[in-house]
Amino acid sequence: MNAAGTSSGTAGPAGGGRSARSMTGLLPGDRKRANGGTPLAIELSGLHKSFGSVEAVKGVDLNVASGEIVAFLGPNGAGKTSTIDVILGLSQPSAGEVSVYGMQPRQAISRGLVSAVLQTGGLLKDLTVAETARYTASLFAHSQPVDEVLKRAGIADIGDRMVGKCSGGEKQRLRFAMALLSDPELLILDEPTTGMDVEGRRSFWAAIRQDAELGRTVLFATHYLEEADEYADRIILLRHGQIVADGTAAQVKALAAGRTVRATLAGADESALRGIPGVDSVEMRGDTVLVHSKDSDAVARYLLTSTSARDLEITTRGLEDAFLALTSDDTDANGSHTGASR
Ligand SMILES: Nc1ncnc2c1ncn2[C@@H]1O[C@H](COP(=O)(O)OP(=O)(O)OP(=O)(O)O)[C@@H](O)[C@H]1O
Ligand SMILES: [Mg+2]
Repeated sequence: MNAAGTSSGTAGPAGGGRSARSMTGLLPGDRKRANGGTPLAIELSGLHKSFGSVEAVKGVDLNVASGEIVAFLGPNGAGKTSTIDVILGLSQPSAGEVSVYGMQPRQAISRGLVSAVLQTGGLLKDLTVAETARYTASLFAHSQPVDEVLKRAGIADIGDRMVGKCSGGEKQRLRFAMALLSDPELLILDEPTTGMDVEGRRSFWAAIRQDAELGRTVLFATHYLEEADEYADRIILLRHGQIVADGTAAQVKALAAGRTVRATLAGADESALRGIPGVDSVEMRGDTVLVHSKDSDAVARYLLTSTSARDLEITTRGLEDAFLALTSDDTDANGSHTGASR
């Protein structure tokens, strides 16, 4: 990361977490009090970010309250990193507004309110894990005790290991430990587990989740539906720089899962089928109709009561397939897939 003092993958040293928190009136006990006058952790309105002719973010409106654990889920190029970089003050919006705890991102970072765990950069391979954490801690006016932070990140037992000898997962946990030193209100992680094996990912997330239970606000970007499902309270699905779904894991899963109702129906009225609430798409194959819907009961009811359909069959779409469908190019971003939107 860059000039925000974040080259180690953590937020900058200026200010210090504790004093900063009292400056904003955000005491630890306040973290869960999202609607009681505490400023929102993140507020984006009409956010646009372009790189030359590439529109990476196209009008994102988003509020994240204190204490939420939010996943940015989406395929490559969806705009996750571009949005995160704006929230971290690493890049400026092309249009729209961003505020973090009611301030400009850089101001929030300099007050120790925000830390980030990014995938690359910042670690010196010739230092040990503990030396790296101690060095980073020395940059903060008010740092958490290094030993405690290493324990929380699950790397207390490898404090003497040279960073150059650490696995990818261990390096990510070290970045996580460094991010915790300022005891930030908001922790942002951009695809922190890419390249880790299943066990590495699981234990990394266990450490994050345990830490988040203290009330820290967490925003993370991922490609993995199951990662978002398991660790986030709220999933924001991004596609082509826009939010296509925003809801709890259960809501987004229901949206993604859907069902297909298949029936034999000669001369079916395609537009009537499309008009049934919850229908995502309709396929006609000769006398067979396939109706993809979030509400298969409504489709079945309509077919059986209002048409001469027979041989009804209801099947569940694969979760993975459905997720891809939701984020693929031929999905209508303004259409029925926004059912879980807030
Ligand atoms: N600095 C840049 N210059 C030009 N184009 C960029 C730049 N950064 C991002 N983009 C483009 O913006 C779009 C969104 O990229 P972004 O990195 O935000 O996606 P992402 O959701 O983080 O993807 P991934 O999952 O691959 O990390 C992509 O088309 C990307 O090529
Ligand atoms: Mg990215």
